[in-house]
Amino acid sequence: MGHLTVPEFQLYKKQGKKLAVVTAYDALFTRIVEQAGLEVILVGDSLGMVVQGKPNTLSVTMDEMLYHTRMVAQAAQRALVIGDMPFLSFQVSVEEAVRNAGRFLQAGAAAVKIEGGMSVIDRVEAMTRFGIPVMGHVGMTPQSVNQSGGYRVQGKEQAEAERILQEAQALESAGVFALVLECVPRSLASTITKELAIPTIGIGAGPDCDGQVLVLYDLLGLFDDFVPKFVKPYAHLKADALQALKRYKEEIECSKFPTDAESYQ
Ligand code: KIV
Repeated sequence: MGHLTVPEFQLYKKQGKKLAVVTAYDALFTRIVEQAGLEVILVGDSLGMVVQGKPNTLSVTMDEMLYHTRMVAQAAQRALVIGDMPFLSFQVSVEEAVRNAGRFLQAGAAAVKIEGGMSVIDRVEAMTRFGIPVMGHVGMTPQSVNQSGGYRVQGKEQAEAERILQEAQALESAGVFALVLECVPRSLASTITKELAIPTIGIGAGPDCDGQVLVLYDLLGLFDDFVPKFVKPYAHLKADALQALKRYKEEIECSKFPTDAESYQ
């Protein structure tokens, strides 16, 4: 079985099959994600926060994204790997956007994701014209956190909701193969999902989207600096790790580890 392709990914919407997307940033977790049967991995620029410990995603560079994309892509046997275009990799010009998107494909990704509405339409058109599949991302776009004034739900007001719907439609016309809807009211996500032929992937956008995406470390309960309402921790790995490390320390201090069982005779 080869990698899930973009057209196969899109078919899921027509078949009414919900899509489970998750982020990953390295080979170890890519293998675990695939063993669990997930077929779509986003190498998200969220790595700036959950891996690098930064307060936002703005300082993540192309080189850093490519480093993580290579690790994920080399480990992935089945997953469709999507590279997230970081801040300043596509804003300056259409040319830079196409070049940087192409670098993700050279690093092993099969597609890229780009944040933004009307301002990225020409970028999306150019990338798709050259065979680079693009996933859109509207609603709350973390790279615009300084303009939006924080990580807040977008589209609560009628005018804002209409703008987001128009952006979604324009992105579909420009050629995106799927669209992330982040932190928008459920009713807006539902309308957009019905209006578009391409799959919508929600994060904080309610259950009516065609699929969902979560940051891996959030869903595993590893990252608790900030836990948004839309995150459901399916495990508590930070608590497990803390317990394991405390025991390790205690057992060394009281000479319980290592024993004969962990020694060479
Ligand atoms: O960077 C990221 O991980 C993302 C998703 C959560 C949508 O953009």
